[in-house]
Amino acid sequence: MAPLTRSRSNDEGISPTFVADYYAQRAGAGLIISEATNISPQAVGYAFTPGIWNEAQVEAWRPIVQAVHDAGGLIFLQLWHTGRISHPDLHGGELPVAPSAIKPQGQAFTKEGMKDHATPRALETEEVAAIVDDYRRAAANAKAAGFDGVEVHSANNYLLEQFVRDSTNQRNDRYGGSIENRLRFPLDAIDAVVDVWGADRVGVRLSPATTQPGETPLDSQVMETYGTYVDELSKRGLLYIHDIEGVTQQTRDAPDGVDFAALRKRFDGAYIANNQYTLDLAEQVLEAGDADLFSMGRPFIANPDLVDRLRIGAPLAEAPKEYWYGGGSVGYSDWPTVGASR
Ligand SMILES: Cc1cc2nc3c(=O)[nH]c(=O)nc-3n(C[C@H](O)[C@H](O)[C@H](O)COP(=O)(O)O)c2cc1C
Repeated sequence: MAPLTRSRSNDEGISPTFVADYYAQRAGAGLIISEATNISPQAVGYAFTPGIWNEAQVEAWRPIVQAVHDAGGLIFLQLWHTGRISHPDLHGGELPVAPSAIKPQGQAFTKEGMKDHATPRALETEEVAAIVDDYRRAAANAKAAGFDGVEVHSANNYLLEQFVRDSTNQRNDRYGGSIENRLRFPLDAIDAVVDVWGADRVGVRLSPATTQPGETPLDSQVMETYGTYVDELSKRGLLYIHDIEGVTQQTRDAPDGVDFAALRKRFDGAYIANNQYTLDLAEQVLEAGDADLFSMGRPFIANPDLVDRLRIGAPLAEAPKEYWYGGGSVGYSDWPTVGASR
């Protein structure tokens, strides 16, 4: 199950108890990647999203993880820092942080609804190491909560990807300029997480072809940048890379000519393919040897027993968009399994 932000948490980044039902109902996925979870208050970019930086949040996650385990599933926590994809309203009026002070297109999801993004504040060189420590603490907290592993969110133009790409990273310190410098902070963060978990319990989410949040091109040498990144991830012996092929939810086209198969060949661990997969497409790609595993996102919203449905060819339910982000248990943890009535 691909990570799905569902915005049911409270202002303290704590999920209500029905979140355990929702995840346990989806244990048939085999491996669930949790909704993106903030590693620190500074990481927050969307209202009502969960956190993993304090003890109360660890306590809230523990029964959720236990419920998935009791239902026979595994669950990784997705570690998130949104960087500039945020809003001052989520930071007591302070500016969101980013590698460089470049305003993203589009709007942020705040408690009062959608608001235009602001120009972020560029991080000072000395501040970057503290964010690496935030990743380390969040990883340790995920372990304390009982998760089976963690996925580092380095996709969709959130903070790590903002550092990776030369359009959003225009720094001239040790964290900007050359590919090696642009990868320094993301790899430091991943190394901190690996220190806690061991590489065989850590995956990384990548979106080499994304055009989010709407600016193109996002990198002047995307294959060089991502080829080097994937080589570094492979050297570390990470469990998997989880690639969003194309632009998440929008298209499977790779506008920058990104070659996913070529990137995959550079990585020794597992390759999880994602974005608009159907069973037929997954079977074709598996047959062609272009992926090891597939994740699905949206189909899980209204089909808790998605894998069973795919296995027997049962019809899939559609979740109206009004239920995707925010609200209570309705349209969230009340979708029936096939044959049962709602
Ligand atoms: C409601 C919703 C929330 C999402 N939240 C996340 C998230 O928290 N982290 C992430 O990496 N991707 C997130 N995504 C992207 C999905 O993981 C996935 O890439 C996308 O839905 C495409 O896969 P699909 O066609 O199987 O749905 C989200 C997508 C949707 C629809």
